[in-house]
Amino acid sequence: MRVLVITGAGVSAESGISTFRGKDGYWRNLDPTKLATPKAFARNPDLVWDWYRERRQRIRKAQPNPAHQAIANLALQADEFLLVTQNVDDLHLRAGLAAEKMVQIHGDIFMTRCSRCDFRRSEHEHEDGDLPKCPQCSALMRPGVVWFGEQLDAVKIGIVENFMRGGDSDLVIVAGTSALFGYIIDWALRARGQAGQLIEVNPEETWLSQFAAKSFREPAGVALPRLVNELLSNVNRRAPTY
Ligand code: APR
Repeated sequence: MRVLVITGAGVSAESGISTFRGKDGYWRNLDPTKLATPKAFARNPDLVWDWYRERRQRIRKAQPNPAHQAIANLALQADEFLLVTQNVDDLHLRAGLAAEKMVQIHGDIFMTRCSRCDFRRSEHEHEDGDLPKCPQCSALMRPGVVWFGEQLDAVKIGIVENFMRGGDSDLVIVAGTSALFGYIIDWALRARGQAGQLIEVNPEETWLSQFAAKSFREPAGVALPRLVNELLSNVNRRAPTY
């Protein structure tokens, strides 16, 4: 079985990490979609860093939930597997998913990188509140995530495209994302090809819902473990159809 899974913030919601566009996403009354921008960082880097440090701290304390575990389990059993996650947290990894089976297409919140040169470092420990400066060139350091309006990493796009070239997926699962970005929709539909099944897991309808063979309108932590169990118990008999 060849499987592509695409996840978004909804998959980490049950671990206590707020989504971007939900009402809980607001921080100090500010809209996250307006904080995660190069413009916001240029205007007020202290404010943007405060937000990221708080998110980092919340993620450090959070635990993977049954949705992350179900995806890691599916990855172990599928013949070919790739996870494309828009999440910058490390909960898929901490649930046991092998790093080579996933692409964090919007970056890694624990990476701090220079806004000018190529210096980067990983920061998994608690940090102080100073504005970080690059030890190589003294420029301001920034979180290693992709902000609105920025390009995706070409190497990461290459990994996804390479998986696509390997053939159509039997199953494409899209979970916990508002699926607002064209490349997410494009990858989901192209990976499914002519014969694959697209399954959506999201309590709300999205633009992708119209293309899904089945949409589970449930939290990911409820629907994914059940779905993966069903798939894995059927895999040696015949592929289930939804
Ligand atoms: N289980 C599954 N889905 C859920 C759950 C849950 N428990 N809770 C919320 N959702 C769904 C919401 O219905 C919504 O469709 O998760 C989705 C979260 O949407 P967004 O907040 O827009 O997050 P995401 O789709 O990951 O955003 C994409 O946009 O802000 C940028 O770079 C950021 O990676 C992010 C990207």
